[in-house]
Amino acid sequence: MLAGNCGDGGVSEYNDHVSVLTGIKPTGQPHLGNYLGAMRPALRLAEGRQAMFFVADYHALTTLTPPSLLRRLTYEVAASWLAIGLDHGRTIFYRQSDIPQIFELFWLLCCATPKGMVNRAHAYKALLEANTRAGRDQDQSVNMGLYNYPILMASDILLFDANVVPVGTDQAQHVEMARDIAARFNARFGPVLSVPDLLVMGDSEPITGLDGRKMSKSYGNTIPLFASSGDMQRLFLRYRTDSSRANAPKDPDTNGLFRIYSQFVSADETAAVHAALRTGQMTWRRLKEVTATAVEAELGDARDRYETLVHQPDELERIFALGAAKARPIAEETLQRVRRALG
Ligand code: TRP
Repeated sequence: MLAGNCGDGGVSEYNDHVSVLTGIKPTGQPHLGNYLGAMRPALRLAEGRQAMFFVADYHALTTLTPPSLLRRLTYEVAASWLAIGLDHGRTIFYRQSDIPQIFELFWLLCCATPKGMVNRAHAYKALLEANTRAGRDQDQSVNMGLYNYPILMASDILLFDANVVPVGTDQAQHVEMARDIAARFNARFGPVLSVPDLLVMGDSEPITGLDGRKMSKSYGNTIPLFASSGDMQRLFLRYRTDSSRANAPKDPDTNGLFRIYSQFVSADETAAVHAALRTGQMTWRRLKEVTATAVEAELGDARDRYETLVHQPDELERIFALGAAKARPIAEETLQRVRRALG
């Protein structure tokens, strides 16, 4: 199992025959941290391989998102991935709620999974602890969907015989549980389910936001992936840097901005800017400008594609339908195997 960091998407670790699967929770417009830490590496990992990507809309329901918002977020997240280059012709790209087999497998897995395993899930435990600390009933606002979240996720993964599941650190334990659930199932009923590898992406050195802390919506320090080029410029100018004088030598390696820059340009350009900063020949302001330009060069077209697609729900529905038509037969085959194994 590979659970290291994979800035390069872990591509080097896997041959072309493995299948890659990951779920994307519809939580609104992604930011540069999501893009560099998770989206771009996942697409690179998928390149040349059998890949399945899906919008996990039923996972989003555990927080009872209002219906119109859930629909909008689902379209936004789908349009984002398609805009940055997810190829729905070559990969299988679907919406979780379009694949009823996931929910049938969910129940079958529930029955083969000890409750104690699910009790240990970090996300669930954190809620119980917060309730206890606040002197509330420990189960307050914990719905059964939230409790069963890891099993639904196991079902997403195991239904498609995925070999590699790339996720962020926060989801690593859930993938471990899917592995556990599959191994237990096989131990009892024979070799029915594939046990996938976990691939943890991008958190050992998180992308930092405008204030220098990890880029995160909860800190309000994000740079939206599809900001207009003007907004992108303005945001980068606000990025926190130290107050060294214009021609003073600067340390590129302690600044998150330089790291963002380096993710968008070649190794040669990175080295040149590194040297210019160290020798005081470049100002922070200049670095901000060239970073905004480099980001625009990679993402400008994607932003235009996003803006078009997100306003075309019919086209997105058509793409989801194509994906579901490819995913369902695979799902049905696994489900038959599991049903037979259970008698
Ligand atoms: N729970 C994941 C998240 O919050 C999304 C997800 C749902 C997922 N099912 C999955 C990820 C299966 C990987 C595999 O980000």
